[in-house]
Amino acid sequence: PARIVIAVDGTSGSGKSSTSRGVADRLGMRYLDTGAMYRAMTWWMLSNDVDVHDAEAIAAAAGKPVITSGTDPLGPTISLDGADVSVEIRSDQVNAAVSPVATVPEVRARLIALQQQEIREALAAGTGIVVEGRDIGTAVWPDATLKLYVTADPAARAARRAAEEGGSDAAAVLASLQNRDKIDSTKGGAAVPEGATHLDTTPYTLEEVIHLVVELVETTV
Ligand code: C5P
Repeated sequence: PARIVIAVDGTSGSGKSSTSRGVADRLGMRYLDTGAMYRAMTWWMLSNDVDVHDAEAIAAAAGKPVITSGTDPLGPTISLDGADVSVEIRSDQVNAAVSPVATVPEVRARLIALQQQEIREALAAGTGIVVEGRDIGTAVWPDATLKLYVTADPAARAARRAAEEGGSDAAAVLASLQNRDKIDSTKGGAAVPEGATHLDTTPYTLEEVIHLVVELVETTV
């Protein structure tokens, strides 16, 4: 489907990334992982010795990193000042620092503008785009063709994320996810978008969820 925007919001570990990539691939659309952009911003701050708990220092530096997202759903990449940081942005250090960085208004304003530019480019190119994050249907693209709000039971989320992170301890992963959700929902701009379809992925396999969403797109568009 050309010229459509699918906004996928929800909690970490809900399956929203795999779902978004699968749907984009199935429908021949581009994919944008906005969480990766907040992670890249955070990695830049850590690498340049900016104190991630000093909101003023973060705000002052927010314009500096050059963040470029690949939009291929089968191999999403993210680069920082020209270097691929796809691996670095998944580190524990970034997991612990990304939510405080993401609450700084200057960071959000800059990244939201970049995300809107990616969406406009996809629409101009005649391809649709699946955009994944926390505030896509609310702040980034409220006019999205389809808005999804993806959740899963906390235990299911932690088990999935622990498996993704190569067998980390599920209890520790759960604590880290819940800590980020708490910061994100109180200060980070995450909210259920108006008109969003709520999708609880707990009882489904990834294939089933992708299939459900593809059907939803086909009946909506
Ligand atoms: O989706 P992911 O878990 O990679 O996102 C990492 C963090 O980036 C989130 O916990 C949140 O703090 C921030 N984020 C955000 N707005 C978005 C996407 C991510 O604040 N649209």
